[in-house]
Amino acid sequence: MRIVCSRLHATISVDPKIIFGFPTLQISALLFSMIRPRRNRRTHAIRSMVRETTLTPADFILPVFLHEDTADTPIASMPGVTRWSMAGLLREAGEAQALGIPALVLFPKIEESLKSPMAEECHNDDGLVPRAIRALKAAYPSLCVITDVALDPYNSDGHDGVVQRDAQGGLTILNDATVHILCQQALCHARAGADIVAPSDMMDGRVAAIRAALDHEGFQDVAIMSYTAKYASAFYGPFRGALDSAPKDGDKKTYQMDPANAREAERETLLDEAEGADVLMVKPAGPYLDIIARVRAATALPVAAYQVSGEYLMLKSAAAGGWLDERAIVMESLIGIKRAGADMILTYFAKEAATWLR
Ligand code: PBG
Repeated sequence: MRIVCSRLHATISVDPKIIFGFPTLQISALLFSMIRPRRNRRTHAIRSMVRETTLTPADFILPVFLHEDTADTPIASMPGVTRWSMAGLLREAGEAQALGIPALVLFPKIEESLKSPMAEECHNDDGLVPRAIRALKAAYPSLCVITDVALDPYNSDGHDGVVQRDAQGGLTILNDATVHILCQQALCHARAGADIVAPSDMMDGRVAAIRAALDHEGFQDVAIMSYTAKYASAFYGPFRGALDSAPKDGDKKTYQMDPANAREAERETLLDEAEGADVLMVKPAGPYLDIIARVRAATALPVAAYQVSGEYLMLKSAAAGGWLDERAIVMESLIGIKRAGADMILTYFAKEAATWLR
């Protein structure tokens, strides 16, 4: 039998034979010209030379939870993650920096008594976040401190924006009133010394408004990492448990994106770029690799991806059950996110991954 294989530019003669009772194909000597991708996988040295994507600790941003307490408290919904006291936070930041992780992003748990409908505490210069920024920058001046800009930890309604209720109890999240408060929050973080503010609220027009507010107050050098394509995802569940920040009623579907939509992510990309964002983020990461790739293709700006609490919990639980190898699945999930097009990854595994990369 002769098979003409045009892709290989070769004519391959094959001879059907029965070996040990199985029909097999014996391939003739002409095969010397066959293309063999496996040559590039043959040894560790060769694989290391042809590798297209690599991870380094500099790719990671460590999300950290903090609270007013003097104790460091394990977070029940996120095994292995801690809500830090100020002293604990400083220790954690030092360890992250020593491992080569360039940046942290801060998530505060705010006491119930400080929450209000207009979230005033989010721009209190003596609040938990500004105090943490000042302490971190004093202890580690070269550490990049990123802050989350959104109302949910401060808002008695647990929404990222200001809630208006109608007579029937229906909820509206007010866009422009929220943007005004987000600007005050971003300024408060900038005054405390934040390097990057990261609006995670998904209100329209907030990047342009925050950029203008920062520039007007002389903070031209404070960057904006915009949550550009943030989906209304069930994978945020453990995070809301960590901060006690779940919406009291309703859901976030009128501002976070529909998981079914991809073109809309490109639209948000063009808007955030035009509004002056410095880094664009996709969130969650693992179930949204196609979105990371689309955003990557639609912009020349750096792209970040957030491997969120539910992704963390899935990987941790599978490892804790002894079902999957933790190190292997974590590193594979991270390389997949980077391969899809992320320049940087927010991940609760940042310290472990940086340690494994040593
Ligand atoms: C809130 C915010 C959320 C996360 C980051 N910032 C939760 C939400 O939008 O409800 C989720 C992060 C995670 O799940 O790890 N603005």
